[in-house]
Amino acid sequence: CGIVGYIGSKDVKNILLNGLEKMEYRGYDSAGIGVRNEQEVKVFKEKGRIKDLTEKVDMDFASTAGIGHTRWATHGVPNVKNAHPHQSTDKRFTLVHNGVIENYEQIKGTYIPEVELVSSTDSEIIVEIIAKFAAEGMTTEEAFTKTLDLLHGSYAIGLLDEEEPEVIYSAKNKSPLLLGKGKGFNVITSDAIAMLKETNEFVELMDREIVLLKKDEIIIKDALGKEIKRESFIAEINESEVEKGTYDHFMLKEINDQPATMRKIIQEYQDKDENLKIDGAVIDQLKSSDRIYIIAAGTSYHAGLIGKEYFEKWAGVPTEVHVASEFVYNTPLLSEKPLFIFISQSGETADSRAVLVDVKKQGHKSLTVTNVPGSTLAREADETLILHAGPEIAVASTKAYTAQIAVLSILAQVTARELGKDTEINLMRELAKVTTAITAVIDDAPEIEQIVNEYLETTRNAFFIGRTMDYYVGVEGALKLKEISYIQAEGFAGGELKHGTIALIEENTPVFALATQERVNLNIRGNAQEVEARGAKVCMVSMEGMDQEGDTYVIPQVHEMLTPLVSVVVYQLIAYYAALHRGNDVDKPRNLAKSVTVE
Ligand code: G6P
Repeated sequence: CGIVGYIGSKDVKNILLNGLEKMEYRGYDSAGIGVRNEQEVKVFKEKGRIKDLTEKVDMDFASTAGIGHTRWATHGVPNVKNAHPHQSTDKRFTLVHNGVIENYEQIKGTYIPEVELVSSTDSEIIVEIIAKFAAEGMTTEEAFTKTLDLLHGSYAIGLLDEEEPEVIYSAKNKSPLLLGKGKGFNVITSDAIAMLKETNEFVELMDREIVLLKKDEIIIKDALGKEIKRESFIAEINESEVEKGTYDHFMLKEINDQPATMRKIIQEYQDKDENLKIDGAVIDQLKSSDRIYIIAAGTSYHAGLIGKEYFEKWAGVPTEVHVASEFVYNTPLLSEKPLFIFISQSGETADSRAVLVDVKKQGHKSLTVTNVPGSTLAREADETLILHAGPEIAVASTKAYTAQIAVLSILAQVTARELGKDTEINLMRELAKVTTAITAVIDDAPEIEQIVNEYLETTRNAFFIGRTMDYYVGVEGALKLKEISYIQAEGFAGGELKHGTIALIEENTPVFALATQERVNLNIRGNAQEVEARGAKVCMVSMEGMDQEGDTYVIPQVHEMLTPLVSVVVYQLIAYYAALHRGNDVDKPRNLAKSVTVE
């Protein structure tokens, strides 16, 4: 979910709706705004996208204060009742909430047992409890603070009080929230991107602080009510990067951005003598650790699997890769001097953050590799490396994945160099070759679209097989395909398929096989034959120098350790065209959100 709020002198409607549209990547199953007129707060809500909400907002008055919300359902199905804002029964308070209140049933029972809730969300109880305390005689600030004290879980909140037209109350815990400063107006927003049209000057808010946002003033207080002064910062995001330009979809634009991102990474991570360069503090962390624990979710987890190869094969540092949501409740035995590397496009994933909070409590070292400077994981880890991929808007991650792999390769190489290991690779030169190879694959998009015509037009399922690094790319290829085309797809280690899953192979089941690793070239081709013998239709993707007659697609030759950066682009395009041909919403697939800020 994402929230916005504005108080100032301009008409608020379009500011809120534009802001929510920019944040749709955070959830898009329903949305709503609450705006003030002279007497009251009016609420407009709709199921579906922001454009559906926009059609519904028929305001016959101008308003200069309001809050908005775009939802990714956690408690309660996506419908108008469950959409935010929620209003208290007495209509005095109106609230938007991003996060999950874990103890909502319990506090409902204790404080407002008699109240009949309209929605089945955990958020509505917050506004009802605030209203109850206010009705008992507390000021709004007191009622808000006392209510927040009762909540267990995560929240970013915007609150309007009908009796105080000059204030938006706000607070956060675990969920991201920024305060934006302007001349004659101020804003709250879950992501700077949503308010860039209005301002690029932001102030951070910390967990459990509360805010009184006024037109000309922002008052921040800590949990004890003491006022806090905090400097603002300028968000260095170019608004044009958040537009899709001439491309039909953000995903296609972002696939096409990849060569430029590779060049940018090469430029950012080299010194004036063109040697690889990583901040000394980061290298010190690595040199003083006996084991790396990579923590991530989704596509970033898949990038972590490739990163492990670099740390172990080049730098000789033992590395484990863990899914964040599992690690947090099932921590393995740790080594004596662990280093935690958090990989996250958004820097906001709640599962990863939960691990970071734990790790910090135990005094372990942490490094975040993220695309978003100033994001929660970037701020809270000891050190940060930035991906320089520019904003990624499509829900299915593409350029962030390749950027993660490239940055991890550089990090591992510098570590190897500092540890005195000779890895016999000129990484910058090899990454430059990769850039050219990615461009060549993108130029072949029409050919790749033909593969989709041939293999995926009618199928309900598909398999991706590979060995070693190609296995990891297969898992990512399968995830891309399921996310946006809704074809059931699984990535398998080539040798493992025969131990059970091969039972699913039928006449014409598509199997994508990847062969870019010399050592296992013959093995994976053998696995392809096994499935072909059982009726599968094999799409063999190989690499120049290892290709054989009959291969479906051949990527240009690049260094063996860097092939994922190129082969994955084939799978990204396959997923893109498969989704397009099925008439799906490529950039905003059903049920998903780009940034999942709930555990
Ligand atoms: C969500 C997105 C995925 C993404 C994952 C991790 O589930 O839909 O595409 O890979 O979160 O996100 P992060 O921002 O931490 O990389």
